[in-house]
Amino acid sequence: MAGTGTFKEIVEGDVYKFYADGQWRLSSSGNISYVYNPTVAGKQAYKITACSKDEVNQAFQSAKAAQKIWAKTPLYKRAEMLHKVAEIMRKNKGPIAECLVKEVAKPAKDSVTEVVRSADLLSYTAEEGIRILSEGKFLVSDSFPGNPRNKLCLASNAPLGVILAIPPFNYPVNLTCSKIGPALIAGNAVVVKPPTQGSVSTLHMMHCFHLAGFPKGLLSCVPIKASELGDYVTTHPLVNCISFTGGCDTGMSISKKAGMVPLQMELGGKDAMIVLEDGDIELAATNIIKGGFSFSGQRCTAVKVVLVMESVADKLVSSVNAKVAQLKVGPPENDCDIVPVVTEASANFIEGLVTDAKAKNAKLCQEWKRQGNLIWPLLIDNVTTDMRIAWEEPFGPVIPVMRIKTPEEGVKHCNSSKYGLQGCVFTSDINKAMLLSDAMESGTIQINSAPARGPDHFPFQGIRESGVGSQGVTNSINLMTKIKTTVLNLPTASYTMVGGDVSLPIEKKGPACGDCIVCMHSYG
Ligand code: G3H
Repeated sequence: MAGTGTFKEIVEGDVYKFYADGQWRLSSSGNISYVYNPTVAGKQAYKITACSKDEVNQAFQSAKAAQKIWAKTPLYKRAEMLHKVAEIMRKNKGPIAECLVKEVAKPAKDSVTEVVRSADLLSYTAEEGIRILSEGKFLVSDSFPGNPRNKLCLASNAPLGVILAIPPFNYPVNLTCSKIGPALIAGNAVVVKPPTQGSVSTLHMMHCFHLAGFPKGLLSCVPIKASELGDYVTTHPLVNCISFTGGCDTGMSISKKAGMVPLQMELGGKDAMIVLEDGDIELAATNIIKGGFSFSGQRCTAVKVVLVMESVADKLVSSVNAKVAQLKVGPPENDCDIVPVVTEASANFIEGLVTDAKAKNAKLCQEWKRQGNLIWPLLIDNVTTDMRIAWEEPFGPVIPVMRIKTPEEGVKHCNSSKYGLQGCVFTSDINKAMLLSDAMESGTIQINSAPARGPDHFPFQGIRESGVGSQGVTNSINLMTKIKTTVLNLPTASYTMVGGDVSLPIEKKGPACGDCIVCMHSYG
């Protein structure tokens, strides 16, 4: 059970502690943040200590010091440690998943999946790190015009230092691991600023790292009141890289203030599904359900607008409607398909989008229904470009359908969005699929499947306001390291030789002779 047994150290009374310097502590600030249960209006799920400025600063100082030692820990040992965490997480998936259900209302089964997926991600990262960090590059100077072969360049990846990881509420375990894993394997230290909703899941997950025995100070998790200390954390002088997943406005604000540190940001999307006349309509409908409504649409990769050719639109809409009627709506504990959205503010925002669309004559295919944060799944047909829902990201179980006359119209809508995370195309013609994929300006285009980040090692990136940098295991490791080169300058050109030309002089025993290949540089 959460907060007990293996996890009893991370809580005192009913208040969850923060993690720094290898210890779980209550903040001296006495400040508490409240995590609400999205399922029960106004009900507190958890209380968490909120760190003071000094405690945050200390976490960064300790991270800096610990990183210097961690960077000199052999790569195979760093990998072993990540494998160990993965094992501990798998063993403790129950209590961690329990927190996900309570604080972000993730369906019970999906919560367990998130923990296991994250453990797998750490194992994969350990293996991938071994492979890519054990190799560097060797360059020689004579490939560049005007240079003989007298300079040998060795390039390898060096850790950046301290990585600030800011995960979102919707994947507080997985998207924290996707940042911590690559950072650690590459020899960095990490300070995690958890999301408020989702912080207790993150703290439980951090305890698995603690139990694995990482050096003190290398990792910390500092819940803060973002309105008070958010800027302090993101502009701290010891931060060497920020990996942030979350809202577009916050991401933009961080990127403007961050200064000269590498950024990895994923800030949401308005992922378009284009359905052509020759597309498999049943398959498209199934993917709208799976890709648009799972976790009540609270995924940056959810299908957020359907652009369907007029001639097949009725068929698609009626198929989706039939499937919507089968969706189970209710609490996450019962593994319902549609669960309450994370906060009341979020539910109000979604309702605002629906009200606007309705007022502008969109057709609600189902009755609008809301109880607290629970919103029944809704398909909105005949959406037009003057409606907010054609452009804005609901992050809820509400999907707009726009009927298009040509594929180009769909591409135009997709490319006019301020977002560009993912998109998808349903067609049975591979040539059309490829042409549309090329034309749609988004980080990833899926052919005949809904947008999705996973498998977690695939490159994942957004353009425009969907983000900067690329994720996926390899890309994250590369982003959290810097190429460092050593150039060996030889006193004269040297060309490496193999082969057995016996006519060449061979090394002579005894004093240097001036005509043998081995000693010619000293005596030439
Ligand atoms: O919410 C953003 C996540 O990166 C989406 O991940 O495609 O696995 O749901 P997912």
